[in-house]
Amino acid sequence: MDVGIDHIAFYTPGHFLALDELATVRGVDPKKYTEGIGIREISIASNDEDAVVLAANAADKVIDEAGISRSDIGLLIVGTESAEDKSKPTATHVHELVGIGPNCRVYDIMHACIGATYGVLSALDWVRGAGKGRYALVIASDIARYERESAGEPTQGAGAVAMLICANPRLMALEEVSSFSKSVYDFWKPLEKKYPIVDGMFSAQCYADAATYCFQQETLKKGAAFVFHAPYPKLVQQTYHRIAKLFDDASPKESFLEKVAAGLRYASRVGNIYTGSVWLGLMSVLGEFHERKQEPSITDAYDGCYLFSYGSGCGAVLIRGEFVPGCEQILKKFDVQEQLDARNKVSVGDYERLAEIYERGGSPQEKVSAIKASGPFKFIGVEDEKRIYGSV
Ligand code: HMG
Repeated sequence: MDVGIDHIAFYTPGHFLALDELATVRGVDPKKYTEGIGIREISIASNDEDAVVLAANAADKVIDEAGISRSDIGLLIVGTESAEDKSKPTATHVHELVGIGPNCRVYDIMHACIGATYGVLSALDWVRGAGKGRYALVIASDIARYERESAGEPTQGAGAVAMLICANPRLMALEEVSSFSKSVYDFWKPLEKKYPIVDGMFSAQCYADAATYCFQQETLKKGAAFVFHAPYPKLVQQTYHRIAKLFDDASPKESFLEKVAAGLRYASRVGNIYTGSVWLGLMSVLGEFHERKQEPSITDAYDGCYLFSYGSGCGAVLIRGEFVPGCEQILKKFDVQEQLDARNKVSVGDYERLAEIYERGGSPQEKVSAIKASGPFKFIGVEDEKRIYGSV
């Protein structure tokens, strides 16, 4: 029985910061961000948007687009490292906001950027066993924040990807190929800190080593698309050059453009979205195929795909995906490009004001120009020490 993704949807806040403008204020050559790192724009969450809001927006969208009944969802997992509570799962809020029935397992998975991928793997097992005939909803939702003026600042981002997993899926079947784990301190978030601590160059080394290990375990199909967790596109390019040696690729520059670059298009406009990054990369490959309209079907364009997911700390997984013939119909519903083009640009000054509100734990009612949640859900505030959510 094939099990995999039936439908996938993305949500990003309605605002972005242009990195050439940030670079100018930071006294950095803009090309360092746009070319050296490979990110041009980063999505910015308003102060009435958090990981619950982004997750619920993406979840609502994927259910509507797939046209399934909410009562058919028997498992709901949120992968996030941006949770606002150390006990009550983000997924419980999403369960309520989106209106999924009580006959459902609901929980979060936290392991840096790989949490949602572990959620997908759990969902595949669940569909093969207890969840036969039902859907699992897996959501990757994060707001990637780094300290202002730190090296990581241009690699921030915000967004959520929601996926429906079931048997005989309409989009793609998934199988785990290999995994890797090792305890390292490359990127971590002590509970009392507002921002992560990062050993940037070491983290890049850990990422590349984990990728090399995972890809070494498989005889790779050369015609496949390669989708990577993309903290910043340059790292993916450097890592792919290492992977290409594993299958004696004599022209890695060309094959990067053919097999990898399509998966980075959205990353360069959204930034790092942590758990959702690799899944947005998959949507990027599919979206690019849909727009270029060269081959009649995705199975003509690619011999399946490899999805490489990495989470600091660290864990990594390589997944093989097989596109389902006829899945092109689903791609017509993707609106990532439209969402990105519709965002409003924020000034560096407004971005700094939002960061300052976040740092002191200010109220979502504090006004920063016209920057607010674009909906359908928003964070209203804290009452009796409880976080309250509602509609825009
Ligand atoms: P940096 O200080 O910007 O590094 O920090 P740099 O000075 O080496 O510059 C970066 C690149 O820009 C270099 O390219 C420069 O040459 C180039 P390279 O040599 O590597 O090819 N450059 C220029 N290019 C064009 N014009 C110019 C120019 N100047 C310089 N004028 C660093 C980079 C990655 C350390 C920083 O962004 C950082 O700390 N990021 C956060 C950590 C991170 O993203 N790590 C990635 C692996 S870990 C991971 O993926 C997990 C994660 O997603 C979290 C989780 O799992 O939860 C982060």
